[in-house]
This record gives sequence, structure tokens and C-alpha cells, in this order.
Amino acid sequence: MNMSKKFYITTPLYYVNASAHIGHSYTTIAADTLARYQRRLLGEENVWLLTGTDEHGQKIQKAAEEAGLKPLEFANKVVLTFKDLWKDLNISYNDFIRTTEERHTAFVKKALEILYKRGDIYESKYEGWYCTPCESFWTEPQVAQGGACPDCKRPVEKISETSYFFKLEKYQDWLVNHIKDPVNVKFILPSTRKNEVLKFLEINKLTDLCISRPKERLNWGIPLPFNPNHVTYVWFDALLNYISAVGAFNSEDRYISKWWPADLHLIGKDILRQHAIYWPIMLHALGIEPPKTIFAHGWWMINDDKMSKSRGNVINPIDMVNKFGIDVYRYFLLRDVPFGLDGSFSEEAIIKRFNSDLANDLGNLLYRTLTMVEKYYQGSIPQIEINKIKFDAAGEAIKKAISALGDQVYIPLAVNFEFSLSLEKIWELINMANKYVEETKPWNLAKENKTDELKSFIRLLVDVIREVAEAILPFMPNTAASIKEQIGQDTINKGKPLFPRIEVKIPNS
Ligand code: MSP
Repeated sequence: MNMSKKFYITTPLYYVNASAHIGHSYTTIAADTLARYQRRLLGEENVWLLTGTDEHGQKIQKAAEEAGLKPLEFANKVVLTFKDLWKDLNISYNDFIRTTEERHTAFVKKALEILYKRGDIYESKYEGWYCTPCESFWTEPQVAQGGACPDCKRPVEKISETSYFFKLEKYQDWLVNHIKDPVNVKFILPSTRKNEVLKFLEINKLTDLCISRPKERLNWGIPLPFNPNHVTYVWFDALLNYISAVGAFNSEDRYISKWWPADLHLIGKDILRQHAIYWPIMLHALGIEPPKTIFAHGWWMINDDKMSKSRGNVINPIDMVNKFGIDVYRYFLLRDVPFGLDGSFSEEAIIKRFNSDLANDLGNLLYRTLTMVEKYYQGSIPQIEINKIKFDAAGEAIKKAISALGDQVYIPLAVNFEFSLSLEKIWELINMANKYVEETKPWNLAKENKTDELKSFIRLLVDVIREVAEAILPFMPNTAASIKEQIGQDTINKGKPLFPRIEVKIPNS
């Protein structure tokens, strides 16, 4: 099914000016789920999940100053909070890159040298506007409309200085052709984002990108190898992580890597321009293939406002994990909103999902099945092959659904990155099985001494649960393990209910 033999997936490198919030955890959980799924398909050794931190630039320098620390000391502290969080959320990353590491800074210098040598970087004067929170340069007409950053609407500062520029303009036609080429239909996803980028490129003529800041204004960055009085623009530095982490330039300046091109860069829609415009052009200028897919997901919102540190409305993922558990949190994020769209985050929404999908559907199916195995067979799982048994129509439909589930999950998840749809398919099987219990009324089979029917019926439920445990594993690794532990090979090992209902106290009115 999957033609490529390896899968290289990345998350953005998160800024270390503050600890992670739900938005950051969303991208990382999605990436982890895909990586876990692909590891099963392709083998552990053929999947690489890269994450890390973006540690240079004005924003970090400012945050460090406010904390009374040197930038690197400050970054060292915040990085630990990210690493702890990924551990708490069960993120199976293969590598964590920090842009302050020597392996990265040396690589960035090399890439800059190559581009400079080829004439794709040149010196000139920069006149324009800069938004520090976004670390973005803006032109006069872009700022003129609102007098502020077109992205975040915060104040911008006027800049006029000697700088180095990267030739973006020269490659605009190449990029447009690349995006439009039918073989690259999956280059920018979802297609709404691809259209957005194409529209942007149609309306705007790209101007060359200012990729340096004079040292006297900003010294927290990678010095340009051809002029150490300037440091590298933080986006130019950070984007290169995707290749610095997994390869190197050889003596002929050719990039060599076992993993590149990336199969998937997962990002939020806020950083689409940098990933879909700057990044492919940087790669092309370096003579390196573009990534296969850039997927930009939506935002988690709080009351119609994007969750972000600057808006002061962030929720700490750890608080949610402590309240609901890791897997419930992972499930909620991936199930509640189709990947690509914005979602509204609230505890009420988590509780609703929890009580219906997890407590009522999955938890109930497992618990009632274990209870029946215990009650009718003293904990021994009936050893029969359901494929050799002819069930009634509903039972046959379940049998079919068990064998079809693999593909039903694979296509939305691995081909189209539709986490929610993939989970929906798993839950269709769970609901079929629950309905079957209600319709078959196994207690009557027991009363009427229909022992063969009862045995087949229960074994069918066991097989459903085993298949479900397999299917949810990438999404909810702990839950899958716990189910597998409770439904053993020959006997069961009934534990506490996986998801006891959450009673919501309605405040007295
Ligand atoms: N450092 C840059 C990325 C460089 S990649 C070479 C950056 N960092 S960030 O810390 O601001 O993280 C941005 C990413 O966090 C978004 O692209 C998205 O993946 C995630 N999110 C941050 N806030 C979010 C929401 N409110 N909702 C969903 N995800 C968002 O940009």
C-alpha cells in the first residue's frame, strides 16, 4: 500500500520564549500518532519523528532579558519543560533538535556559504517594518493598511539598515509551477491552504527576503559566515533544522541524507507562508528536493480567539492531562475537530466526548465483555475461530467490519491525515458491537442454554475489542496496552473500568 519505504515526519520547532500550550501539543500529538502508525506499517527503523526548539532571535533574547538570564541559560530551562511535556504526553520522537546546537549552527553556516557563493545571497539596504512577536519583515504597503503587523495586528518597528538578502523573487515561477504540477497535488494540504498560497503568489510579486540582522541590534543568532557583524534571520536559521538534523553537505556541496525528502511537515496555519514559500525556495536554491507534503492544521480557539501566549488565554496541557488522563486528551484533540479546521477548546467539550465515546462506547464494550467472560467462562476466553462460524446478519456484518477496519483506518489516517474520520470508523465498529449486545441479549442465551451461540457471540466481541485495541494504538497507546493486558491470549485480567463516567455538577441556580 505505502510505496515509500521510509517516513520522515516533523513538527515545527517551538519558540522557547514560554512553555508549551495546547496548540503546540496538538501538532506534536498528531505527529506522534502518524509516526506510531507508520512504524507499524514500515518497521521502527524506517520512521523518523523530529521535533525540537527554535531558540534564536529577538523574541527569545527579550524573554531572557526579562527573566534576568542569558539567552542560552533561559533556553536551557524552557527546553526542559518541553521535553517533560512530550514525555508526559507519550510522544515517541526520534530526535529533538535545538537550533543552538553545534550540529545545527555549523550546518546553517555551511548552507549560507553555499548560497552566498552561488549568488543567491547578496548585500543591500533594508528599509521596512519588523514585527518582533512574529519575527517577520513587512513591506510598507503590507503595513499601511492597518498600521500594524498584518498577521498578529501588533505594533511593528521601522527598520533601515544594511542587510543581506536571499533571492526569493528569482524562484517565484519555479515555486508556482511546482505547486501546480499535478504530481505534487499533495505538496500543500489541505487544498484550501494550497489555494491560499497560490492566490498569494498570484497577487504578490515576491520580494527578496532579508535574512540578517546587524549584530548591534541583535546578537542572539548565528553569525553570517561571510560577515560576522550580522546574525541570521531566525526563520532562515530555524527552517534549516529539517535538513540539518538528518543529513550533511558533502565536499561537493551536495546534501546527503537517508531521510530527506521529508514525507510530512506538520505545521499550524499561522506558519504556512514560511513553510510553503520560503522553505521550498531555500531548498531549491541549495539544490535539494522540496518536502513531499506540508500540512497546515487549524487553531485551537478559546471563545473565538486563537490560543496564544500573547493573548493571555493559554491552557496548560498538563492541567488537562492531570484532570482527564493522557489518552483522553489525545483522543479529544484528534477526534473533536477535523484536521485542518479550527476547533473550540473547552473542558465541557472534553467531558462530553469522554462520557459518550470513551465511557459509554469503548469502556462499556470492554467492561461488559470482560464481565461476561468472567461470569460464563470463569475468565477463560472461548477458543474458537469466528471465521468458521455462521452468525446472524448483524454478527456477519461485524465479522466483515473487523476485517475491513485496517483499511478503513489506513486510508483516512495515513493517506489523507483525517484523524477524526479514522477514529470515527473505529467507533462505528464499537457501536455495532454494543448494539449487537443489546439486541442479542446474551443473558437470554445463557438462560436458554444456547451454549454454542453464547460462546461464538462472546468470542466475536473479544475479536472486536482486540481489533479496536490494535486500531487505537497510535492514537491512545496506553489505552491500547491496557486493553491488551485485560484481554489476554487465553484468559482475561479484568481491571477497573477504563473510563468511569464524569459526573458534571450543575451549579445551583
Ligand atoms: N518557531 C516557529 C516555527 C519554526 S519551524 C521551523 C514557531 N513557533 S511557535 O512556538 O510559535 O509554534 C507555532 C506552532 O505551534 C504552530 O504552527 C502550531 O503548530 C502550534 N500552535 C500554536 N498555537 C496554536 C493554536 N492555538 N492552535 C493550534 N496550534 C497552534 O512558529
